[in-house]
Amino acid sequence: MSKFPKDFLWGASTSAYQVEGGWNADGKEPSVQDVKEIPEGTTDFKDAVDHYHRYEEDVKLFKELGMKAYRFSISWSRVVPNGQVNPEGIAFYQKLIALLLENEIQPIVTVFHFDLPVSIAEKGGWENRETIQAFADYCQVLFDHFGQDVPLWQTINEQNVMALAGSVIGTSQKSMKEKFQENHHMLVAQALVTKRYHEGNYPGKIGPAPNIASVYPASDKPEDQMAALYMSALRNWLFLDAAVYGKYNHNAWHLLEKIGAVPEITDEDQDILSSGTCDYIAFNYYNTMTVSNYYEKEVKIDQQSGFGIPGFFQVVENKHLPMTEFGWPIDPEGFRFTLNEIYSRYRLPVLITENGIGGKDNLEDGKIHDEYRIDYLKQHIEQMALAIEDGVEVLGYCPWSAIDLISTHEGITKRYGFIYVNRNEEDLLDLKRYKKDSFYWYQKVIQQNGLE
Ligand code: BG6
Repeated sequence: MSKFPKDFLWGASTSAYQVEGGWNADGKEPSVQDVKEIPEGTTDFKDAVDHYHRYEEDVKLFKELGMKAYRFSISWSRVVPNGQVNPEGIAFYQKLIALLLENEIQPIVTVFHFDLPVSIAEKGGWENRETIQAFADYCQVLFDHFGQDVPLWQTINEQNVMALAGSVIGTSQKSMKEKFQENHHMLVAQALVTKRYHEGNYPGKIGPAPNIASVYPASDKPEDQMAALYMSALRNWLFLDAAVYGKYNHNAWHLLEKIGAVPEITDEDQDILSSGTCDYIAFNYYNTMTVSNYYEKEVKIDQQSGFGIPGFFQVVENKHLPMTEFGWPIDPEGFRFTLNEIYSRYRLPVLITENGIGGKDNLEDGKIHDEYRIDYLKQHIEQMALAIEDGVEVLGYCPWSAIDLISTHEGITKRYGFIYVNRNEEDLLDLKRYKKDSFYWYQKVIQQNGLE
């Protein structure tokens, strides 16, 4: 008997700037992702994998894969370029959503995934309070057009990654003080649109989509337990406590005080935070973190490799965990642990909006043998099934990614998709789509409503 509920949302994910291309088509304004410096030796990532022009073919493949849901993001700068509603931008998402529904694939929409419009960034981006209202206005446009058709919304993808590793993903390079002021404005913006969504009585649910990673202490030393508590407070609970309770986590607040990074909060902000709390929790999971109490050491920072805060914690290597080709730990049990940790803290249904492994795939005679991806996903699905047995309420699973797309900072060399796209770092080639071995494997998982 399957451990997964009958209506479990087996899906897959993408984000607008990583998949769409058409970066200046039909009135779209560039986003910060279209103008960021690109790594040496690479050419143009702005065309991504051209989903904007090939969405019909892609949705056909999603249907063949058996996806019950498709989690994607809407490009703010396509829908509201330079502050003006763009009918062509709306039309694109209207067509995409209609096609998904026609194919019985539930659209799951993230409204903001790392791609701030340039005109907003030029006015100070999230550091500028006015961005809160601009975001709320943009979301209202989305709710007006798609509110009846989209059952699950996420406000902001990986706000915690933007705050803590923004320089790597091309969203912000600022001091901690500035970053946490930006972060505060994002929390208020999120609460404001959540409140508006509820007041509009739309038929779906809305929630945040942070990147959550349980944090293990490096040893049984009490100092390491405290280090783990503090890292989790700053990296995880600050974001979920704000979304679920409308309050800052007390440990995270204390840490921000110690490092001189507390944001300015008005009474109005506080009212908005507590009146716009979420209906469910979407989160992305790639791996856990392990920390010791702080010692001096340079660490590579990206979404998953972690970081340190003097006097509080320092990420260290976990020798029990294997690594991906790109240096991220692999921890399927940590997935079960993270699911349980979130559910016991908040008691809200959860949706996995990203989970997956990036690697270099090779196209040989029209085939891609990505056994390593099947292994990774299989182990994570097994652990998710155990978490469901533990009692965690899981709405669905949307691995990263439905189709190959551009990684945040490692180009197209680091691929995630079930569908291979024929392009490389230097050349768009023919952008032809091929089904990987993992495509056929995941198709079977969905057909069986889980692993046999
Ligand atoms: C998450 C992001 O951090 O991880 C995605 O939400 C991203 O946008 C994914 O692509 C994988 O990370 P990367 O750096 O390998 O692309």
